[in-house]
Amino acid sequence: FEVNWDVSAAEKEGYDFFMMKEIMEQPKAILDTIHPRIKGNEIVLDELSLDKSYFKGLNKVHIIACGSAYHVGLVGKNIIEGIARVDTQVDLASEFRYRNPVINDGDLAIIISQSGETSDTLAALRYAKQHNAKIISIVNVRGSSIARESDDVLYTNAGPEIAVATTKAYSTQMEVLFLLGLYIAEIKGKITQEERAELVDELLSIPEKVKGQLSDIEYLETLGKKFKDVEDVFFIGRGIDYSIAMEGSLKLKEISYIHSEAYAAGELKHGTISLIEDGTLVVALATQDQLFEKMLSNIKEVKARGAYVIGVAQEGNTAIEKEADYVIYVPKTKGCFAGALEVIPLQVFAYFISLHKGLDVDKPRNLAKSVTVE
Ligand code: G6P
Repeated sequence: FEVNWDVSAAEKEGYDFFMMKEIMEQPKAILDTIHPRIKGNEIVLDELSLDKSYFKGLNKVHIIACGSAYHVGLVGKNIIEGIARVDTQVDLASEFRYRNPVINDGDLAIIISQSGETSDTLAALRYAKQHNAKIISIVNVRGSSIARESDDVLYTNAGPEIAVATTKAYSTQMEVLFLLGLYIAEIKGKITQEERAELVDELLSIPEKVKGQLSDIEYLETLGKKFKDVEDVFFIGRGIDYSIAMEGSLKLKEISYIHSEAYAAGELKHGTISLIEDGTLVVALATQDQLFEKMLSNIKEVKARGAYVIGVAQEGNTAIEKEADYVIYVPKTKGCFAGALEVIPLQVFAYFISLHKGLDVDKPRNLAKSVTVE
């Protein structure tokens, strides 16, 4: 398939790898994705042919995707269920199409894909359509198959993404889900205009915050160098942090070939804790205020078994310093948006591990940018 952008735009511009260039492009990509859809402080989704009455009556959402796009879907569920109060299921496309899911007429299927060409995702779209779901896709490549076959498309304005490991496409997909989730929440009367205005203000502050995060990545490089030779890493978190743990873990394993897994922190004692021994690295994500204390307990549990812990928390939550060996702070934001900031240092950390291992960051073995075969 053809990508409709200029090859010259795809040069590395002085970066060693496209992945770092694309990480650095995130503030702009996020801004370009949010900005055109906010007028004053209202969310305006002109691109949708589905009208407000459709969303008012909406009872069920199916989010379907593969890989990192699936991880974004999990964050989307948190927003659409948590704020708009609509029952939401998230499926891997390769599971959805074979598990005989219950799809009612008029359900909404949200299909997420950077390339718009992933074969399982496209097949799942067709399946949902045959079962009379309405299709909104969140796609980066204009005119791609998934875009063409959807009822409506909300494009991410991330620009070309070359590195196999996605960064800016992932981040912009999340922003689109924030917009869509808040849009539905307001139509359904689950948030007031004032609440929406406040959340939109917060959303608009994300690009600057990401810029701030990316202006100083030396500490992350130090951590990357320090831990480049570890053999196992566990990413743990609760709620949105758990979804981000999955993405942080995937980024690391994709480009560094280090075995890593994401676990819901509350599940540690149901198995994973048996794998923690002296020197195991645990990245503990703790940006959710209501779950912060519980995460501190989980950190204590793994520390007691010899783990090294990198804790990730919102600025100001300094209590984490007492428990974790290293702390990465992310700028303060409303809990529901924290994932957008938290993923940034995890991308950079994975990048530096891969770089200092001397690997080809952009083209990890056995992986393709777009999986168009089954
Ligand atoms: C591949 C890529 C991932 C991506 C997934 C889904 O595995 O390496 O980064 O998340 O495909 O691709 P899509 O284009 O559908 O988002």
